[in-house]
Amino acid sequence: MVRKDQLAGEGAFVFGFDDFIFLPSYIDVEPADISLVTKFSVNIPIAMPFVSSPMDTVTEGEMAIALARSGGIGVIHRNCSADEEAEEVMKVKRAESFIIRDVLTIGKESTVAEAEKIMKEREISGLPVVEDGRLIGIITGKDVRFSNKEIRTEQAMTKDVVRVSEGITIEEAERLMKDHRIEKLPVTDSEGRLSGLITYRDISLRDKFRNATRDEKGRLRVAAAISPFDMDRAVKLSKIADALVVDVAHFHNQNVINATKKIIDNVSVDVIVGNLGSKEGVLDAVSKLERVGGLRVGIGGGSVCLTTQITRAGSPTLYAVTEAVSALEELGADIPIIADGGIRNSGDIAMSIAFGASSAMMGYVFAGCKESPSPTTLIGDKHYKLHRGMGSESARQKRIVSDRYAKLSKSIAEGTEKWIPYKGYLADVIEELASGVRASMGYAGAKGVKELKGNARVMKVSSSSFARASDMQTIK
Ligand code: XMP
Repeated sequence: MVRKDQLAGEGAFVFGFDDFIFLPSYIDVEPADISLVTKFSVNIPIAMPFVSSPMDTVTEGEMAIALARSGGIGVIHRNCSADEEAEEVMKVKRAESFIIRDVLTIGKESTVAEAEKIMKEREISGLPVVEDGRLIGIITGKDVRFSNKEIRTEQAMTKDVVRVSEGITIEEAERLMKDHRIEKLPVTDSEGRLSGLITYRDISLRDKFRNATRDEKGRLRVAAAISPFDMDRAVKLSKIADALVVDVAHFHNQNVINATKKIIDNVSVDVIVGNLGSKEGVLDAVSKLERVGGLRVGIGGGSVCLTTQITRAGSPTLYAVTEAVSALEELGADIPIIADGGIRNSGDIAMSIAFGASSAMMGYVFAGCKESPSPTTLIGDKHYKLHRGMGSESARQKRIVSDRYAKLSKSIAEGTEKWIPYKGYLADVIEELASGVRASMGYAGAKGVKELKGNARVMKVSSSSFARASDMQTIK
């Protein structure tokens, strides 16, 4: 029997995003100068506090590329085979880099027609020509265009190749390319063996996406969702992704914690754990696991969640953040918290940060973007995209993530589906979100994430505090 004095949540006051507003406070910079730099996980800084959910209508390679270029990070979903998930991770890792390592090459005996076919298929503009691993030339789109297609690449290639050694800087590479008016710079070792390729496209992308989330090799960063009970997948993905996200609906479970412990022992990347909703859960997870890279918190608050309706269990996202903060304070641990579920706009993101989160994970906000995996569908005269819970009937029909929801609830669907209006490019959505979060921070008197967490003054509001624009009558 639950007695009144046993109620959790400060006398049962469990709150959500609409319960608070920022008290406008003094600031001495303009919103455009406010920094959103934060952390996704212990070892991964991000320029924008935006993370996309590991859901099969939200994050595959295309979404993760666009989000990393905008300064956030995507978590590839796991409702597919391990090979398919790895391929989505690789799309992100291959999208750009300073020095490409898995360079596509061609032999000198191949025909120009073959070179042209590879270039078309792989959408690249040139191929280094190699003999026994040594660079002997380069064949570019221009060489192909003006050659007889039946001759050997050796006869059509450019032989006098400008090449560089390992250790070249981005600035040096850019200058050489400009001086020689070339777009590809092969990297060779002291014996002339091809060890990499620098392309002008990759260098200009670096300039274009200055905020992008990149690894030490200049490649975009990406995280991958895993089940704690699938060691093979975890190890495989840990070799290519920048972080792993243990993706279960209720992390505070002995079997889940034990299995995660084994995974952490076998991988070296940051492992984010969740979802968690209580102080005890976070205390248990952090103290039982050796190395926690991040905490994903919030249960049942998502836009397509049915968990709370079905089970009467849950922890609203903002409340879950405060529980995690209390646990980390008690432990004296500094682990980034990711607020997950029910975030609709920039105000919700800013409020999550004010309460202690380092970033916000979103499904609903990103599912309508061009880069999300589901096709755009015309309904009436408007375009929509589907957003579905990973515990929804249709997602569970794939049966791959059944362990996220089915272990607990057997055959009950804990998620639903929604049509989201098509929103266009992610970059535009991010721009709007970022200016919104900066505006919130401006009102809250915070120049950066740290100040927002430390100094923001927040007030509880009653339902009658503000007249809503939608409630107003238009008087003509
Ligand atoms: P939003 O509101 O951003 O929430 O769409 C995304 C988060 O929802 C969680 N999620 C689910 N929760 N049943 C649930 O109770 C589900 O089927 C489901 N699928 C996703 C997940 O935490 C995600 O990041």
